[in-house]
Amino acid sequence: MHTTKELQAKVRDIFDNQNYINEPKRLYEPIQYSLSQGGKRLRPLLALLGCSIFKGDLETVIPPAIGLEIFHNFTLLHDDIMDEAPIRRGQASVYKKWDTNTAILSGDTMFVLAYEYVTKTKAEFLVEVLRVFNQTAREVCEGQQYDMNYETQDLVGIEDYIEMIRLKTAVLIAAALKIGAIVAHANTDDAQNIYDFGINIGLAFQLRDDLLDAFGKLEVFGKPIGNDIVTNKKTYLYIVAYEKADSMQKAALDRAFSEENNEAKIKAVLELYEQLKIKEETEKMIEDYYEKSLQYLDAISIEKEQKAELYDFAKGLMLREV
Ligand code: IPE
Ligand code: IPE
Ligand code: MG
Ligand code: MG
Ligand code: MG
Repeated sequence: MHTTKELQAKVRDIFDNQNYINEPKRLYEPIQYSLSQGGKRLRPLLALLGCSIFKGDLETVIPPAIGLEIFHNFTLLHDDIMDEAPIRRGQASVYKKWDTNTAILSGDTMFVLAYEYVTKTKAEFLVEVLRVFNQTAREVCEGQQYDMNYETQDLVGIEDYIEMIRLKTAVLIAAALKIGAIVAHANTDDAQNIYDFGINIGLAFQLRDDLLDAFGKLEVFGKPIGNDIVTNKKTYLYIVAYEKADSMQKAALDRAFSEENNEAKIKAVLELYEQLKIKEETEKMIEDYYEKSLQYLDAISIEKEQKAELYDFAKGLMLREV
C-alpha cells in the first residue's frame, strides 16, 4: 500500500522528467507545454491508486497511466478551441498561445502518443486494458458532442445532462481506476465496483467543475470564470435555474442569457443564480453523487484500511476549489 502523497510524488516525478520536444518544434512544443504545466494529474494518480489498493506492481500501471494523462491533455487542447476558452491552468490555452491549427495537430499527436503509452502495457493485460481505453476514448468524444449539441438546444433535462457529463468526464476517471485494478489482478466484480465508484466521483467532479466555472476564483481554478455562461453551456446550474425559476425569473434568465456583452451577461446570470440558490442546489447534488460513490467503494472486497486512501481522496475531490 502506498499513500496518495507518495503516488502523487511519483506521478509528478514521471511528468517532470518527460521530454516530448522533437522536430518540428511547432508540433511538439505545445505538447511539452501542456504536459509540463501540471494540472491535478488526477487520472494517472487514480490509475496508480487503483493498482495500489489491490497490491499490484506499480511499474505495470505506469505506461497506461501516462497514456491516460496524455489522452486527457489532448482532449483539453481541442476542448479549449471548442469552448473558446483562452486560459487553462492559469496560462494561455494552446490555441491562444499558438493558434487553432497548432492546437488541433498537436492534440492529434497527443492522441497517438497516448496510444503509444497504453500499448506498452504488459502483454497479459493489454487486450483488456485496450478494450477499456478504446471504449472510454470514444465515449469522451460522444460526451463532447452532446456538450456541443446542447449549447444550441433549449430543452436539456437533468438526465440528458448527467449522461453527457458521464461520457465527457466520468468515464475517463472511472477507466483510470479500473485499469489500475486490472493490472493488479483484481477480480471482475471489484474492477466493476471501482469503475462505478469512479463514475460517481467523476459526476461529482464535473458538477464541481460547473460550479467553480460560475463561482470559483480564476487565481485558484485557473480557468476564466463565467465561460460556461458566455457559451450557453447547459450545465447543472443552468438547468436547475430554469427548473426553479418562476415565470418572472424565467424571463429574467432569458434576458440575461441573450445579453450581448459578456461581462454583463455573466453578472446578470450570476445574480439570478444567487437569487435562486443554485450554488446550494449544486452542492447538494455533488454530495449525493459522493455518497453514492461510497457504496461502490464499500462493496470492493478488500479490507477497509486498504481502501482508506480512496475514501479520503473522494472526500477531498468533492470539496476541491482547483
Ligand atoms: C478538466 O479536467 C476537464 C474536466 C473534466 C472538468 P481537470 O480539472 O482534471 O484538469 P487538470 O488536468 O487538473 O488541469
Ligand atoms: C470537460 O468539460 C470535458 C473534457 C475536456 C473532455 P469542460 O469543458 O467543462 O472542461 P473545462 O472546464 O474546459 O476544463
Ligand atoms: Mg467543454
Ligand atoms: Mg472547456
Ligand atoms: Mg468546465
